[in-house]
Amino acid sequence: MRISVIGTGYLGTTHAACMAELGFEVVGLDSDPKKIEQLASGVLPFHEPGLPELLRKHTASGRLRFTTSYAEVGAWADVHFIAVGTPQKAGDHAADMTYVDGATSALAGHITRDCLIVGKSTVPVGTARRLGNLVRESTSGDVKVDLLWNPEFLREGYAVEDTLRPDRLVAGGDSAAAIDLLKLVYAKALKSGTPFISTDLETAELVKAAANAFLATKISFINAFSEVTEHVGGDIRVLADAIGLDNRIGRRFLNAGVGFGGGCLPKDIRALQARVSELGLDRTMRFLSEVDEINLRRRDRVVHLATEILKDLQGRKIAVLGVAFKPHSDDVRDSPALDVAAQLFNAGADVSVFDPEAMENARKRFPRLNYTKSAAEALENSALTILLTEWDEFKELNPTEVGDIVESKAIIDGRNVLHVQDWLDAGWRFESLGRRSV
Ligand SMILES: NC(=O)c1ccc[n+]([C@@H]2O[C@H](COP(=O)([O-])OP(=O)(O)OC[C@H]3O[C@@H](n4cnc5c(N)ncnc54)[C@H](O)[C@@H]3O)[C@@H](O)[C@H]2O)c1
Repeated sequence: MRISVIGTGYLGTTHAACMAELGFEVVGLDSDPKKIEQLASGVLPFHEPGLPELLRKHTASGRLRFTTSYAEVGAWADVHFIAVGTPQKAGDHAADMTYVDGATSALAGHITRDCLIVGKSTVPVGTARRLGNLVRESTSGDVKVDLLWNPEFLREGYAVEDTLRPDRLVAGGDSAAAIDLLKLVYAKALKSGTPFISTDLETAELVKAAANAFLATKISFINAFSEVTEHVGGDIRVLADAIGLDNRIGRRFLNAGVGFGGGCLPKDIRALQARVSELGLDRTMRFLSEVDEINLRRRDRVVHLATEILKDLQGRKIAVLGVAFKPHSDDVRDSPALDVAAQLFNAGADVSVFDPEAMENARKRFPRLNYTKSAAEALENSALTILLTEWDEFKELNPTEVGDIVESKAIIDGRNVLHVQDWLDAGWRFESLGRRSV
């Protein structure tokens, strides 16, 4: 089976390389010629563990190629996966559908053989049916084209593993033959017991929106309790452990801290609210705006703590550890860490930043911070240290050694990952989210 993957960003490149790993012949297509040139020469333009090896292996074997030509893929592939971006529209909560619509029309205009189009991008409910009509109108009657929606649940940092061994596969569509073809693509995962949920287009689209809305809500739920424990002097970690032991609740995604970010959760909960309002269900997803606000307030809380510690931020050197939205990723889209660093800078602080992988992306977005070559360089003579992305390298910092580098031993643990007593024993002032000051 010949597979094309349209849009070779975080999702598409991973999907393309994993499809090649599964034994298919694959072509990745992107509208960005520079990205295509890099990928074709086996260079991954972003950080994702395990992916550079797969990319090199399959560009070398010839099983994975890259192109910018829709004519080439339209005439070649049996299955086309759509993996282009659906960012938030500027000045609006809705998803920007320009890329999905553009990619689908461009592909449809170049299809010259029977094929299956499979949408993987996260889209507002109703998109797939609309695109199905668009494809029917744009392709000639001589070819048979089916369309399914197969939302993607991969986690950045674990994307290869999640693609090769997903915990579930969901596919929506009207054609049983198309579903059977998609099952051939995923035969290996299905054989090892991965559940396959076959449904209609609308449910498939909503499954993805619901999963992200649930995860965001769970994080903001615990962070809302953080506001209370901070007020009364409780300990949010103990609270999370205690409720997490109830297996109806579960402990995962109950880590209080500076909140969620990245290229998915924030824009997906906003897009869901926008879409549901468009459908006339104004009140239905209103709670998600509260989820969003709780999340953003955590960033303000870190800035507030920094101000409380330093009194005046003007000209004070602050070391920010981490700018990626989470560890094992270089993604800084809507990153709470980068946002806090930028807010501190805008308030007059002299902000030194270090992240093991996300420096380049952060610099592109916010060039005015002082990007250092190591954590030690960022920490040198800092009046305050703030941990904002829980990379292992930061979790393992030795408080005594760090204490010798900084100007002042004060730290904010924005992710609740440090061992408090160790830092206190080494003479630090320790602040965190959801716990009393120590
Ligand atoms: N990143 C994730 O962890 C993840 C997980 C699950 C779902 N998703 C969803 O997958 C989709 C893609 O996300 P991403 O993070 O990979 O985005 P991305 O921005 O990293 O990649 C999108 C790619 O699409 C390309 N593109 C845009 N318009 C195009 C066109 N008309 N033709 C060809 N290429 C085009 C861009 O150049 C870019 O390389 C989004 O809908 C996202 O919500 C992402």
